[in-house]
Amino acid sequence: MFNDSGVSVLRESLRALIVDSKPGTQLPSVRSLQQEHRVSPNSVQRVLRELAVEGLVDVRPGAGSFVATAPPPRAPADTSWQESVLGSRIPPELNRTLDLWRIPGSDVIRLKGGYLDNELLPRAALDAAMTRAIKRVPSWGRYPIEGSEDLRRWFASEIDGVHASEVIVTAGGQSALSVAIRALVRPGEPVIVESPTYTGTIAIARSHGADVIPVPSDADGIRTDLLADAIERTGSRLVVLQPAFANPSGVTLSRARRDEVLALAQQHSLFILEDDYARYLGIDHEPPPPLISQDPSGHVVHVRSLSKPVGPGLRVAALCARGPALARLRAAKTLDDFYVSGPIQEAAVEFLTSPAWPRHNQLVRRALGERRDALLAAMTRLLPHVGIPAVPHGGLHLWVRLPAGVDDRDVAAAAYAEGVLVGEGSPWFPAGFDHSHLRLTFGETPAPMITEAVTRLARVLPPL
Ligand SMILES: Cc1ncc(COP(=O)(O)O)c(C=O)c1O
Repeated sequence: MFNDSGVSVLRESLRALIVDSKPGTQLPSVRSLQQEHRVSPNSVQRVLRELAVEGLVDVRPGAGSFVATAPPPRAPADTSWQESVLGSRIPPELNRTLDLWRIPGSDVIRLKGGYLDNELLPRAALDAAMTRAIKRVPSWGRYPIEGSEDLRRWFASEIDGVHASEVIVTAGGQSALSVAIRALVRPGEPVIVESPTYTGTIAIARSHGADVIPVPSDADGIRTDLLADAIERTGSRLVVLQPAFANPSGVTLSRARRDEVLALAQQHSLFILEDDYARYLGIDHEPPPPLISQDPSGHVVHVRSLSKPVGPGLRVAALCARGPALARLRAAKTLDDFYVSGPIQEAAVEFLTSPAWPRHNQLVRRALGERRDALLAAMTRLLPHVGIPAVPHGGLHLWVRLPAGVDDRDVAAAAYAEGVLVGEGSPWFPAGFDHSHLRLTFGETPAPMITEAVTRLARVLPPL
C-alpha cells in the first residue's frame, strides 16, 4: 500500500502547492496527505521536515504546517556614504589601542598584552564568588551610580586617606581614565603625560580633542624639571601619571619626585590623574603609597583597577576624588553607562573579602617574578646587545632599547614571522617618532615559553 513513488509524488505536489499559495497558507493535514498519496504518516512527516529545512514550510506543533513566510531577499548594504560622513577623525592611537586586542594564532608566543594569562586566573574562586554573589543580594536590580556600598568600602579600606564616599566604581581602569579626562579638561586644552606612557591614555585624551603634551621620564619617573617647564609653558591643569611600575617603562616615581609633583600640583592648582594600575603587581617589593594618600586637598584623582591583578573579565575599578571634582566625575560617569553591572560588583566583593584574594595575589606576584627573571636571563644571554634601561620591580612588562639603527616596526614584523608577538615601542611615545624600543610583556606567558620566545627573537636580532 505504501511506496517510494508515492513519497516523490507527495513531495512534488507539496512543492507545487507551496509555489501557488500565499505565505502563511495552511497546508492539508498529515492525515489527508497520507490518504491522498497512500503513504505512511512517517513519510508525510519526513517530507514536511525536509521542506521546513529548505525554508519552504513552517511546522507549528499542534497547529499544522504552513507555507513559510520567506524573509525578503536582502541586497548587500551600501554603506559607502558613511566614509565621507564620518571623515578621518579617528586618531591613529585608537587603532593602536585596538591592535592590543589582536589575538594571534595558537602557535605564536605572546610577549605582548596587558593582563594575566588564563593559567594565572583564579577561575574556581571567581566562579564560587559569582555563585555566592547572585544568591546573597538582588544583584540584578538597579544599582547606585557610585557603585555598591560594600565595594566602595573595600576600595576605601585599601587606599590610605580615602573615604568610601570618595569612591566611584567604574567598569575598569580604561573607563575611569576616560571619565576623568573628559570631566577635568575641555576639548583643545593641554593634558600633560609622562613619555613613554600607556597608549590608551594618549588615545582617550586625543579623542576628547585634548592637546597631549609629553614630558620625558627617566629611571626615577617623570622629569620634574621638564614638568615644571611644561606646566609654565602650556598652563595645563591635568597631568596623567603612573607613579608605580609604569607601563611601559616599568619605572617608579622616586620619593623626591613624588614630593615635587605634589608641590607643583599645589603651586599651579592642577590635577594629577594617578593611574595606579600595578598596585597589586609588586614583584620585589610593594609599590610606594599612592600619591592620593599624601594629598588632603583634592589635587590627586586616583584610579585603581582590578582587571590587572585578578583577571580581564573582572571589569571593575575605583575612581577616587574629593571636592567638586568628585561631582563632575560622577556626572561624566552617569552619561557613560549609569552604573557597573550589579552581579559583577557583588562577585568582586565576594572574591576580595575571601581568603582566595590574598592567596591568589601572592601566587601572581611569585609567578610574575619567575617570568620576569626568565625574560631577563634570556635577554642577557641571547640578546646582550639589547639595552635594558630599568629592571621593573613590578608590573607586567620589560621595556628594552634596540641597537642603534634598528627599527621597532621591522623587528616586530620579523619576530611575528618567527612566531613571536612583541610590542613596538613607538605607540607609547605621544610624539610617535621614536622607533628605538620594544615592550616585552612577561605577564601573559609562562617562563619556559618566554625563553623560547627570546630564542626566536635572537634569530631576527643577531649581534652586530
Ligand atoms: C597603564 C594602564 N592603565 C589602565 C589600563 C586599563 O585597563 P583596565 O580597563 O582593564 O583596567 C591599562 C590596560 O592595559 C593600562 O596598561
